[in-house]
Amino acid sequence: MKKEIEWEKLGFGFSDTNCHIRYVWKNGAWDAGELVKDPYITMHIGASCLHYGQECFEGLKVFCQKDGKIVAFRPDANGGRMVRTAIRTVMPPVPVEMFLDALKRVVDANREYVPPYGTGGSMYVRPLLIGTGPQIGVAPANEYTFLMMVMPVGAYYKGGLKPVRAVILDDWDRAAPHGMGDVKVGGNYAASLFAHEKAKHDGWPVELYLDAKEHKYVEEFSTSNFLGITKYGTYVTPDSHSVLPSVTNDSLRQVARDLGIPVEMRKIPYEEIREMAEVAALGTAVVVTPVWEITRGSEVIKISDPDTVGPTLQKLYDTVRGIQYGELPDTHGWCYEL
Ligand code: COI
Repeated sequence: MKKEIEWEKLGFGFSDTNCHIRYVWKNGAWDAGELVKDPYITMHIGASCLHYGQECFEGLKVFCQKDGKIVAFRPDANGGRMVRTAIRTVMPPVPVEMFLDALKRVVDANREYVPPYGTGGSMYVRPLLIGTGPQIGVAPANEYTFLMMVMPVGAYYKGGLKPVRAVILDDWDRAAPHGMGDVKVGGNYAASLFAHEKAKHDGWPVELYLDAKEHKYVEEFSTSNFLGITKYGTYVTPDSHSVLPSVTNDSLRQVARDLGIPVEMRKIPYEEIREMAEVAALGTAVVVTPVWEITRGSEVIKISDPDTVGPTLQKLYDTVRGIQYGELPDTHGWCYEL
């Protein structure tokens, strides 16, 4: 039985569901995990996640397909990225098999919260790994908690595929060249919050970051990766050590190659945006969000009309959504049945 939820009206917000799944790592091993109803967590006041930010997270989506199958989109890719982030933050990696098992168990216990096919919604899965052992000197904890919570969601930015405006605020950076920008830690998002609130207050839903060293090259948005379609129709996305390797971007590069669109992953000088035919933000939460205008100081770069979605972005969006909802063949084996 599906829940009485106005699926079509869902935005990207937190909502409680039946339970989450939680595992504890102690004395060198993960326990078997359990489904927990209570959305609160009790931890030691000295927990390393609270003091030294020893934490990381993931984001992936589960879809109800046309034929009624419930699938997760590339969960192994998110599991693999979480292993890399855990190593970088000196936490015990969650083996990918355990990550997939957690996913099956938590989705199974919350099936009625997966938005039905045709509503445009999906179930967002948020895995979280935190140092829960007390640590007052700067060092890794001796105890960790891994959990996965789920909730039904709709579009991240109001209006779905509706284009948004972005701003570059040169007074703030997201990630240093050899910092943690390439792994999914909360600190990267905390680093963006101040500028993000300022941008929102001044009328821009999202801010775009340039490289922290020279402010010369495009890096990524606060929430997601950067994609530009050149006037020659090439898919270009930044190659940088401080950009998160997005699963959505990786998937769309493959979709682009399948559609015969040339793909380049390289440095993108800021000035090149002026020449772009289409620009979008890419990520699990934002999917493909077109960007119609980018402001930096007194320069306003108009990429399209506020209501126009470029043809290449539309094709990429339709293809990836088609695969996720089981309307198009899943030729790369990305949909993982639950
Ligand atoms: C995601 O796209 O899943 C993220 O974690 C980004 C966040 C801004 C919602």
